[in-house]
Amino acid sequence: MTETLVKNKLYIDGREATYTDERNLLEVIRKAGIEVPTFCYRPDLTIYGGCRMCVVEIEGRGVQASCSVPPEPGLKVRVNTEKTRRVRKVALELLLANHNRECTTCEKSNNCELQELTQKMGIRDVRFGKREIELPIDDSNPSIVRDPNKCILCGDCVRMCKEVQGQNVLDFVNRGSETVVSPAYGKNMGDVDCVYCGQCTSVCPTGALTIKSEIDNAWAAVLNQQKVVVAQIAPAVRVALGEAFGFKPGENTIGLIVAALKKIGFNQIFDTSFAADMTIMEETTEFITRLQNKEKLPLFTSCCPAWVRFAEFRYPQLLKHLSTCKSPQQMFGSIAKKYLTKEYNIDPENLTVVSIMPCTAKKAEAQRNEFKNNGIQDVDIVLTTQELIRMIKEAGIDFSNIEPEPLDTPFGILTGAGVIFGSSGGVSEAVVRTAYEMVTGKPLEKFAVTEARGLDKFKELTVDIEGLKVKIAIVNGLQEANDLIERIEKGEAHYDIIEVMACPGGCIGGAGQPQSCKDTSIKKNRSKGLYKADVELPIHKSHENPQVQNLYKKWLESPNSKIAHELLHTHYKSKRRISGENIELTSGDIEEKKSEIAVCVGTCCYIKGSYDFMEGLVKRIKDNNLEDKVKVKATFCFENCGKSPTISVDGELVSNAVPEKAGEIFEKYIASKFNLE
Ligand code: SF4
Ligand code: SF4
Ligand code: SF4
Ligand code: FES
Ligand code: FES
Repeated sequence: MTETLVKNKLYIDGREATYTDERNLLEVIRKAGIEVPTFCYRPDLTIYGGCRMCVVEIEGRGVQASCSVPPEPGLKVRVNTEKTRRVRKVALELLLANHNRECTTCEKSNNCELQELTQKMGIRDVRFGKREIELPIDDSNPSIVRDPNKCILCGDCVRMCKEVQGQNVLDFVNRGSETVVSPAYGKNMGDVDCVYCGQCTSVCPTGALTIKSEIDNAWAAVLNQQKVVVAQIAPAVRVALGEAFGFKPGENTIGLIVAALKKIGFNQIFDTSFAADMTIMEETTEFITRLQNKEKLPLFTSCCPAWVRFAEFRYPQLLKHLSTCKSPQQMFGSIAKKYLTKEYNIDPENLTVVSIMPCTAKKAEAQRNEFKNNGIQDVDIVLTTQELIRMIKEAGIDFSNIEPEPLDTPFGILTGAGVIFGSSGGVSEAVVRTAYEMVTGKPLEKFAVTEARGLDKFKELTVDIEGLKVKIAIVNGLQEANDLIERIEKGEAHYDIIEVMACPGGCIGGAGQPQSCKDTSIKKNRSKGLYKADVELPIHKSHENPQVQNLYKKWLESPNSKIAHELLHTHYKSKRRISGENIELTSGDIEEKKSEIAVCVGTCCYIKGSYDFMEGLVKRIKDNNLEDKVKVKATFCFENCGKSPTISVDGELVSNAVPEKAGEIFEKYIASKFNLE
């Protein structure tokens, strides 16, 4: 045994154990093969030490939380003693006393760490009184639901939101027995700067934070004989869904997922990797144009809707730098609604597009006004990997024993470049593979760009395209993105392309995937699975996808053409909140104005089109030269969300101010007041 190992030696339940770089005793005990219960310890977050589940007895020191004690040479530790068992049991009973225990109907049932531990510890009776008051459930957020009655105050969500996503949406509010975890000032989750990443749900050990389910909508669609229901499967889903059925993280089960979806009743199954190839065609062309014109650099990727929302809130001045490309999910949606309907002669009203995503933010993305056509969403339903797992189980499908089936054509033809989108660095690598060949016209001999790979929060690389040096930064986690932007704004860093993914490790660590926060190897293996799929596929470059080439030939002309822009690109809007102030949309002095209209741009109103309404209204005011008579301003929630979008005209609340009603409302409240013809 080496000198280092002798020094790094302690005793667990009388047996020698060695440690190297473990951050605490808990990790050392787990490495020795003993599972210690925890609620508030997550390897990727700071240590909180509040739940007392991980207590151990240390000789000479008594009972201590093992997550909060660093390993030291010679420590004599006992994991399960009379005292530690008692401390854990009392702590657990106290948590259960404050907890709504309707497990049978809970979204998290069978997947809940509190339920699991209660079973393991054999608790049949809770000796402490039950909390009387039932707190309201908050389902105002398009992606997640908060049930404070099921919260055990472990603080995991608070630290995840703050430390990884740089967001401070959730915090401990009130004191003592009144303590809850909620947005500040008791606001709803739909009325705060949440980016819908869902990472808080991915660490919540109970049913207090869960993903908003669209399972019932999906069943209704597949059971409706009038509907043609197509599914698109995102790259990261294939290497994670199998975990719920005994496959190892990283095992590619795409064929089984296709077969399961067919058995459930989906008509056609396609792959979002195909749309990722379209994204690369459009984004690479956009990048090369910007590079040639020396404008709007660095180019920020725009595939991750949580990042886009973060930029809209936090860095509106950078929005012109974001690629205007829609995300692959939305590119697929608009192509499917436009062309599948033509190719197969389907009435667009009868085509339902369902996405299977690793992501909760995609639920909110699909509802954005920019991605609707005549009020109908391009992507109708977004199911997370977890939701599809539940549908497969509900349908009674023996997932591990069914025969795999192939994806359908035309959008089931994929390349390795599209598949690696699921891991942090994948988008950049796919851009490099295509940019090299687009710029030089020569084949890229070695397609792997290994410097872009790995799950580090920050990576950088410089690619040499025949003398043209392209500097790329890759970040995952919005706190990391924030740190990078601050460095760029201070002039300390310069890049040409910046890839941002909100979730740790990219979409493989999306909140819609089976839980991976307890074991850091899970995300690593999923990532490896995607790169393995890339190697196994015959095509590795997006521009070589024959079906993508066909689509351009038949319908889209060329990347960044007018028609491609109409279908595959979008725009962004600042959503910065100015605390205590409203944002004025028409100029002039209030004293001289005769009318004042406040348009709510809170989340509910925004989702239902308040920005578009406001634009319509401002245009009419300008067309009628009323700017100096009518003041229009954006404001925040009127607490009338149920009847949103809401506006106020000279103090009178007007509900249901949808974009289509801008003319009617202008006539009723403005034209009549100023006697316009
Ligand atoms: S969804 Fe993301 S941004 Fe919103 S509260 Fe959860 S962790 Fe924070
Ligand atoms: S909501 Fe969930 S993660 Fe957050 S403190 Fe409560 S139990 Fe913990
Ligand atoms: S990283 Fe992927 S899974 Fe996470 S929010 Fe962004 S798109 Fe969704
Ligand atoms: S896991 Fe150690 S105190 Fe909660
Ligand atoms: S967001 Fe509540 S009224 Fe607008």
